[in-house]
Amino acid sequence: MSLIVITGAARGIGLEMARQARARGDEVLALVRDPAAAALAGTGVQALPLDVTDPDAFAALAPKLEQALAGRRVDLAVCNAGVLLGRGALPSAPTPAQWAESFAVNVAGVFLTATTLLPFLARPGGRLAVIGSAMGSQARAPGGSYAYRASKAAALNVARNLAADLRAEGIAVGCWHPGWVQTDMGGASAEVAPAASAAGLLARFDALTMETTGVFEDWQGAPIPF
Ligand SMILES: NC(=O)c1ccc[n+]([C@@H]2O[C@H](COP(=O)([O-])OP(=O)(O)OC[C@H]3O[C@@H](n4cnc5c(N)ncnc54)[C@H](OP(=O)(O)O)[C@@H]3O)[C@@H](O)[C@H]2O)c1
Repeated sequence: MSLIVITGAARGIGLEMARQARARGDEVLALVRDPAAAALAGTGVQALPLDVTDPDAFAALAPKLEQALAGRRVDLAVCNAGVLLGRGALPSAPTPAQWAESFAVNVAGVFLTATTLLPFLARPGGRLAVIGSAMGSQARAPGGSYAYRASKAAALNVARNLAADLRAEGIAVGCWHPGWVQTDMGGASAEVAPAASAAGLLARFDALTMETTGVFEDWQGAPIPF
């Protein structure tokens, strides 16, 4: 049994990962904007509040985590919370506010989640998973969705640098594309069901080792060019 912490687990891929991890016997702590509204009731998943754009929320989280974990170490931290904003046409999209929020959630949110959870991660043996996107690949740059693509490229950069910095502590880090998934973000015509994506991602996290730290791949293990 592992102890897993997941951000943005109130809906979508995060919720499905939390449900499946709990169902297979892991202990799961969900970090969500509104624990009362989270669809986690009855799942056995404990929820604590975290808006990843709120510095005060990170400061408040550390003592709550300390209490909830009671000395136990986190085996896997998943930075899943994300936003897709400003998909409109050039030159008007994305707006300045959409740029700011995209980077606050998708980049700074990942970094601050990681650094807040770091003291609680198992070492050696802890794992850190960043949910990025194939749209963050710089090798594939078809245009459009500028704030999302740029923020996911930066999230990948954060993950790769964390992998380097945490190697000496025996903490492995990876960045994953979950597929084009049927969620509020992905839309109803997306290719992959949330359950399939979540199952694939959990299997990939299980497979992450110090030999593969820094990996960028999709939910089925196919490498994605940086
Ligand atoms: N769906 C796809 O096709 C797809 C493809 C590639 C990558 N991804 C990535 O996969 C991850 C999950 O996406 P999804 O499809 O499940 O999206 P989703 O259904 O839109 O859910 C997004 C989650 O992120 C949370 N979130 C947003 N802003 C937040 C903030 N400021 N603080 C804390 N939580 C926040 C939301 O919380 P609330 O419920 O409180 O709003 C929600 O739980 C994201 O990182 C996304 O970029 C998705």
